[in-house]
Amino acid sequence: MNHKIIQVASYHYPNAVPAVPQRLEPPDGLLTDARGRPLRDLRISVTDRCNFRCTYCMPKAVFGKDFVFRPHASLLSFEEITRLASLFVAHGVEKLRLTGGEPLLRKDIERLIAQLSALRTPDGRELDLTLTTNGSLLAKKARSLRDAGLKRLTISLDALDDAVFRQMNDVDYPVASVLHGLEVAQQAGFDAIKLNMVVRRGVNEREILPMARHFKGTPFIVRFIEYMDVGSSNGWNLAEVLPSAEVLRVIDAEMPLERIDANYAGETAERWRYRDGGGEIGVIASVTHAFCSDCSRVRLSTDGKLYTCLFATQGHDLRALLRAGRSDIEIASVLAQLWRMRDDRYSELRASLANTPAKKIEMSYIGG
Ligand code: GTP
Ligand code: 5AD
Ligand code: SF4
Ligand code: SF4
Repeated sequence: MNHKIIQVASYHYPNAVPAVPQRLEPPDGLLTDARGRPLRDLRISVTDRCNFRCTYCMPKAVFGKDFVFRPHASLLSFEEITRLASLFVAHGVEKLRLTGGEPLLRKDIERLIAQLSALRTPDGRELDLTLTTNGSLLAKKARSLRDAGLKRLTISLDALDDAVFRQMNDVDYPVASVLHGLEVAQQAGFDAIKLNMVVRRGVNEREILPMARHFKGTPFIVRFIEYMDVGSSNGWNLAEVLPSAEVLRVIDAEMPLERIDANYAGETAERWRYRDGGGEIGVIASVTHAFCSDCSRVRLSTDGKLYTCLFATQGHDLRALLRAGRSDIEIASVLAQLWRMRDDRYSELRASLANTPAKKIEMSYIGG
């Protein structure tokens, strides 16, 4: 392997405290960025910790025993998160996704979910409230999450074969426990459950067909994700990316597929369904077929920095504004200003960039 792993014991990313604009403006839900893209999807990382060490996300060589995670005091409180979320909703956000790290490791996460599920869009609609988890704590928590108001769930599942699954999570975690969590979640009555499989050529690509076969005819929607160059620690290499077109070819040869329409503009996944009525799958081709042109996603890190792209190199310190006692309209005006300036489209530019940014933000910190 030609992994060049940089040894770090912590991470310090550049960030700036945004200036509050002179002219304050109440949100009208009509914001667009410099490329005309609306703001619809807020992804909130509630912890940078995880009990897995997936090789593509938190490799042990970097996230080892000496790694220093964010101290508890630096995390946004649930009240701070809810306050920011409500300002984003006033600006047009309709979907909230809790991520991490592993979000179910955050103590009392149900209390945050209850607070967020009480938010409404300006015209009184409920939000699409969802969460991405590795599934290890689901058997214990699925019911309480549902009861707290969580509507949908996305579970990472990179293989069905136990040895391959353990190789991917790198903490010897058995696949049977995640599959049990999945069953409990299904019984808890979520509106929809999706399964995310990151495909690494030569590592878990043989699991594509078993995953497709196993979940065909079930309500679970499997999404096959191209391995991305997110962060600076996974030693990403283009040769390990298995293009989604190949994933589709392999599945279609055995179980014929047809394309279906997107659920919403800017959806990450391309949707396909089995021609025999066996349900739906998705592919997320962020490397070979970038979807920046409609990207309406913004990310809030564990410690309250705002990132306008998964590959942004600088965050905007919203926690500083909260803790300096800024008013709702002041913070809402800052959000408007930041979104209007947004010009990010890293995945579209990836191939033409001479150099990748020196220090990209880790996904476990910024949220998946
Ligand atoms: P739905 O709400 O069900 O449509 O899910 P989603 O696709 O918005 O969210 P999810 O967290 O399941 O995303 C799946 C994967 O797509 C992530 O884990 C990332 O690998 C990738 N992804 C999500 N958002 C972005 C993005 O904005 N840019 C890029 N390049 N990849 C993304
Ligand atoms: N490439 C693609 N997806 C990734 N994830 C984490 N790291 C990567 C990467 N390098 C995604 C996986 C996982 C979610 C938490 O983050 O989809 O399910
Ligand atoms: Fe943890 Fe998810 Fe990253 Fe794996 S992909 S290390 S489960 S945050
Ligand atoms: Fe959006 Fe950035 Fe991902 Fe493109 S690379 S889809 S702009 S988050």
